[in-house]
Amino acid sequence: MSIDREKQLAAQAAAELVEDGMAVGLGTGSTVAFLLPALAARKLAIRCVATSVHTQRKATELGLEVELADMLDHLDIAIDGADQITPDGWLIKGGGGAHTREKIVAASAARFVVIGDSTKPADVLRPPVPLELLAFGLPATLRELGSAVLRAGWPPSPDGGVIADYTGPVGDPSELAARLSATPGLVGHGLFEPSLTADVLIARAGSVEHRILR
Ligand code: A5P
Repeated sequence: MSIDREKQLAAQAAAELVEDGMAVGLGTGSTVAFLLPALAARKLAIRCVATSVHTQRKATELGLEVELADMLDHLDIAIDGADQITPDGWLIKGGGGAHTREKIVAASAARFVVIGDSTKPADVLRPPVPLELLAFGLPATLRELGSAVLRAGWPPSPDGGVIADYTGPVGDPSELAARLSATPGLVGHGLFEPSLTADVLIARAGSVEHRILR
């Protein structure tokens, strides 16, 4: 079975978790690209918030009602892909550079659902860890981070942040997350702690494994 078909199966299973009347956070990426039509096909009365301009455009084209994130302080559910998923629920996100908005949306959702294909599970997290940095004082921030590289050719995030990657060892993800969060000039990083995630849906061949974390 192709990886795209696995992404589609995981996305379809997640779309089934959405109910009429919900406020829904929509992630970003190639797995979410399969979620949007699956969700639109259900013809539910839902209000959505998008984590990227691309998702916002695609969702709107499909007839989903997308509102500005400023309008909703609480979501019932948010659904997003991930780059790496460990057995205990740590994630690396941000391959598409949308991790800062994605983390805000995930944290504001009562239920954050992660969807992925069979290439996403990882025994341990490995670099790179995506970063979003303030443009002000960028050389000093990079120096403080030590092992970090700017993502060549990437435009600023919709919020004006510079997209980069931490390339040093991950080691204990909670220690690295704390260190990154404490670095002046760092707006957001792609380490998502297990407490953010409620469900993980991983498609392997023709079936979807549903792990409930909380
Ligand atoms: C976007 O910035 C990312 O966090 C994506 O959600 C993540 O990289 C998963 O993307 P794919 O579904 O394309 O693998």
